[in-house]
Amino acid sequence: MNLKPITIAIDGYSSTGKSTLAKDLAVALGLNYIDSGAMYRAVALFALENGLARNGKVSSELIKILDSIDISFHFNPLTKKSDTLLNGVNVEEKIREKAVSDIVSEVAAIPEVRRHLVKLQKNLGKGGGVVMDGRDIGSVVFPNAELKIFMTADEDVRVNRRLAELKSKGYSPSFDEVRENLRHRDHLDSTREDSPLTRTNDAILLDNTNLNQEEQLQLAINWAKKAAEDQPCVKY
Ligand code: CDP
Repeated sequence: MNLKPITIAIDGYSSTGKSTLAKDLAVALGLNYIDSGAMYRAVALFALENGLARNGKVSSELIKILDSIDISFHFNPLTKKSDTLLNGVNVEEKIREKAVSDIVSEVAAIPEVRRHLVKLQKNLGKGGGVVMDGRDIGSVVFPNAELKIFMTADEDVRVNRRLAELKSKGYSPSFDEVRENLRHRDHLDSTREDSPLTRTNDAILLDNTNLNQEEQLQLAINWAKKAAEDQPCVKY
């Protein structure tokens, strides 16, 4: 589809399908996809691998070595697979593991970590033509994005989607375990002091409890077309 290279910000609760919609939109509109959550997960993995996170507590030493953490992405529009590279190593699988999910929201609540990653995210999106999903994309990273979408869905639906995703990757957590992790992260993400998860006034609410992947994509494509027609291209 030949559309102006706009910036699309997708925020919302855990496991609402943000990355699925973001990748579908990126492919449909010829934009780049960036998974900001993967960046927080990569920093959390780095902390675990370097003994800087134990028993759910993250050491303040992490702040001092943020500059030694390099994160990059490779998005393949043909397979819709986004790989996350941590210091050159593909960690896409590892950052989805439970140990990382258990501490990522603690890591993401550290202001220095946020400042560091938001800077990288702004840089990755400068020039526009990007779809980024996360928690603070419309509010902090790209406040001038031409299109902002805020996603939500019923809790049981979200837990079942995440369960299916983890099972397809060979993990077998229980429903309660997954629900506990989603609740824990949503609570921390919504109540942290630094850039909590919020819906900005200009974000379109997308409740996809009863929508399938194709239906949500069609809705979002229509919003994107309208946004591209309505507004001048914003540069960051
Ligand atoms: O895919 P899911 O919705 O479960 O989470 P994610 O996008 O992989 O993000 C993992 C965690 O990173 C979230 O629970 C947040 O704590 C944090 N995060 C954030 O604080 N800000 C962002 N822009 C993206 C993620």
